Amino acid sequence: MKKLVLTAVAAFTILTGYAQTDANLGIIPAPVSVVKSTGSFALSGNMLILSQPADTKIAQMLKEFLATKGVAAKIVSVKTPITANQKVILLAQDSENKLPKEGYKISIKGNRIVLTGKDAGLFYALQSFMQMVPSEKANGNYPIQNAEINDYPRFSYRGLHLDVGRHFFPMSFLKKYIDVMAAYKLNNFHWHLTEDQGWRLEIKKYPKLTEVGASRNGTIIGNFPGSGGTDNEVYKGYYTQAEAKEIVAYAAARYINVIPEIELPGHGSAAIAAYPELSCFPDRDTPIGANAPWSGPRTGKQVQQTWGVFDDIFVPSENTFKFLENVLDEVIAIFPSKYIHIGGDEAPKKYWKESEFCQQLIKEKGLKDEHELQSYFIQRIEKYLNGKGRSIIGWDEILEGGLAPNATVMSWRGEKGGIEAAQQNHDVLMTPSTNGLYFDHKQSVAEDEPLTIGRKGKGFAHYSKVYNYDPVPAVLTEDQKKYIKGVQANLWTEYIETPAKAEYMIFPRVYALSEIAWTPLNRKDFKNFSEDRLSLHLAKLDKTNTNYWVPPAVGQPEAIVTGENHVVELKSPIAGAKIYYTLDGYRPSENAAEYNAPLKINVPQGQQKVLKTIVITPSGKRSIVAETVFNNGAAEVKVK
Ligand code: ACM
Repeated sequence: MKKLVLTAVAAFTILTGYAQTDANLGIIPAPVSVVKSTGSFALSGNMLILSQPADTKIAQMLKEFLATKGVAAKIVSVKTPITANQKVILLAQDSENKLPKEGYKISIKGNRIVLTGKDAGLFYALQSFMQMVPSEKANGNYPIQNAEINDYPRFSYRGLHLDVGRHFFPMSFLKKYIDVMAAYKLNNFHWHLTEDQGWRLEIKKYPKLTEVGASRNGTIIGNFPGSGGTDNEVYKGYYTQAEAKEIVAYAAARYINVIPEIELPGHGSAAIAAYPELSCFPDRDTPIGANAPWSGPRTGKQVQQTWGVFDDIFVPSENTFKFLENVLDEVIAIFPSKYIHIGGDEAPKKYWKESEFCQQLIKEKGLKDEHELQSYFIQRIEKYLNGKGRSIIGWDEILEGGLAPNATVMSWRGEKGGIEAAQQNHDVLMTPSTNGLYFDHKQSVAEDEPLTIGRKGKGFAHYSKVYNYDPVPAVLTEDQKKYIKGVQANLWTEYIETPAKAEYMIFPRVYALSEIAWTPLNRKDFKNFSEDRLSLHLAKLDKTNTNYWVPPAVGQPEAIVTGENHVVELKSPIAGAKIYYTLDGYRPSENAAEYNAPLKINVPQGQQKVLKTIVITPSGKRSIVAETVFNNGAAEVKVK
């Protein structure tokens, strides 16, 4: 009987996206503490939102959200007399500053919902509250579970990066990206603005950066190095300073800081194409492999059309420093961020080795080698930016040749750089490509995955890998651990040409990112995340014209299972999605059998059966085809 009741509740959850049964009330990232009590608040029309004047913007956001649910609300002063029967949402200030930074509380009881917090804290209370509202009404209202929530972040820095150099993304998409960040309490947007394949920010003093550097004559087709040539199409785009300021303001209204990245001394081919004197060898043609796919002229300085790391990097001349200082002056005027990212990664030293000027400079400055020359380069830029009240972030290569005194290190080649930097008492942001935080990696090894970096069937980062990552390395001492300021995921876009594909690559991994960035370790629970909460959030995406990676059915064993008799119980990963399956080797589709009860799979001795499933969501999105081989002593295991 008990089992029957539970099943009925579970079915109801799937149908309505009703989060009451979940220990975290459907909230991602999971809060620090959720204490449920009996009963619920019936959210329906004629709500009053009580707000101080300082919180009017957040009150307005709440009102607009309620309107999307068909719930009318009026914003009134907190001093308005209220009768006991009137249902209200009170936006309360943390007037005694008792909550941790960015922290908030939610109390739901009787006819009162109280969201308490200051600035970002109150904004985050609103984000959590919006996630608690069921997607569908029950008995004419949206029931919100009575509960007390207490919440604050594990890390002060919670980042998401976007490379707009390899591919350019429209303003509308940047805003959508920032909206996603805000909903999941991420607070730093790392905007990778300059690359070998395109310079994407207007700099008024150097108009050729965008006249020349924002445009390439073609783009390689398929995986680098490729055999399909280029598409022979001019590809271009950049953001005006007014547009960049618009993004900064849009993000700030959502408590997100925008960190611009201006790459130096490497990844500068586009800038060098615009101003060849930034190169050690202004008269040398851009290095292009003899067999590299290419469109248009191969001579002179060119914006790159293929992916990779290129030898033509900035020369550390006074002219280059003046150029970079002038560029950074304009960057600083657009971006109020304390941090400016200066790149520092993947700068081959070949040209510096070959350059008489560079070798002379190494001698003059008493440097040991080209790595120390890079360190000299970065330290000069740091000094300049520190003088303007800003701090630098650099990729972990800035450790080589000695760290600039005040630099923050972004650890991307695994955790090693981050560990080293923390041991040298430098702030660290963890974004290791080895631990699932490179969202350009594919999400499964299935054949169906689209073109991504890496070869078919190799190297992938499922959201569980992201979820299981702890940004604080165990090898650090307690004191050193304090230097780990946060975590970030990166979206490099060599193989991501459109907003739809960018969405496909970030969802659902961005949910896992938000939980490792925000939720304390003792509150993390992968089963609860993946089986109870994820489905609600993906179901919401499914309704909002957003693309995403559809997870395969929950409960399907991976790879090969041995034995004769099996029972496979599957669960839809998304509220309302259907599972179809085959056992005959054919690819499943909506024409295959629909899963609606546990499958009994019997395999005679010496044989094997292959279960193939696909999930199809209400909007028609499809998962990869997941396969399990049930083998009972067959000599050769074959998957069609
Ligand atoms: C990087 O992925 N080159 C930072």
